[in-house]
Amino acid sequence: MIHTAAMAQDIYDPAFVADVFDRCSARYRRWSASAAFGLIHAWRRACVTALDLPKADGTHGVDLMAGTGEVWPHLLRRFPEIARITAIDISPRMHTEAVARLHGARADRIAHLCANMLETDLPDASADFAVSTFGLKTFNAAQHTAFARQLARILKPGAPFSLIEAADPKGWVLRPAYRLYLDGVLPGIERVFLRGAQDFAMIGTYTKAFGMGQTVTEALHDVGLAVEAKPLVGGAAWIWSGHKPG
Ligand SMILES: C[S@@+](CC[C@H](N)C(=O)[O-])C[C@H]1O[C@@H](n2cnc3c(N)ncnc32)[C@H](O)[C@@H]1O
Repeated sequence: MIHTAAMAQDIYDPAFVADVFDRCSARYRRWSASAAFGLIHAWRRACVTALDLPKADGTHGVDLMAGTGEVWPHLLRRFPEIARITAIDISPRMHTEAVARLHGARADRIAHLCANMLETDLPDASADFAVSTFGLKTFNAAQHTAFARQLARILKPGAPFSLIEAADPKGWVLRPAYRLYLDGVLPGIERVFLRGAQDFAMIGTYTKAFGMGQTVTEALHDVGLAVEAKPLVGGAAWIWSGHKPG
């Protein structure tokens, strides 16, 4: 059975999650793009397309669980007038990768905050928009509630958000092949090519527990955000988009 060492620990402990991504950081971009056959780019673009930001001029937004900032090119292409993005991530090395390798040219518009999103003290009603790509599966249900509270607190009244996450497409006809890929093929490739590492392989464990992201939908509703949940590719990913009323 895979991940026995990880199973002995709490895989939702923020320190555990930060360590996993610190170890993945150097190879994150290439691995995530190739493991998802490039689909991940289309999904990030879809997340940005779902962000209903009528006037981007001079706006200050947040990228939550930003990682290496893969969504920024999509965001700044669609909304070139954005003034500033604050990128929040708990993994110091994901931030380092973002700055050093990918986004130097955009550096003046990105502020990096190495922090736990579930506890960050970013000011109330300070963000004109929020995006998050693939950062929700490493939270459990209680953490989805904490995340939703933080999101509702940080957004300005009326501000839009768009979130995307890979899920476990229960009921989809291709689910068995999808699960075999996530739970068997990917861990095997990682073991062979990354000298026994089992970090990227954690995606299988996390997506299975994440299910269809029902706890995200409920948490966003419960904190009073207006939200619509939409499946992509038979439910292999979900987008939650909406706004803070007011
Ligand atoms: C799968 S990566 C996604 C990165 C990026 N958004 C993307 O689209 O590729 C998930 C990121 O969430 C971050 N993360 C996990 N838990 C967090 C927390 N509690 N607070 C802030 N960041 C967190 C991880 O460090 C990691 O960089």
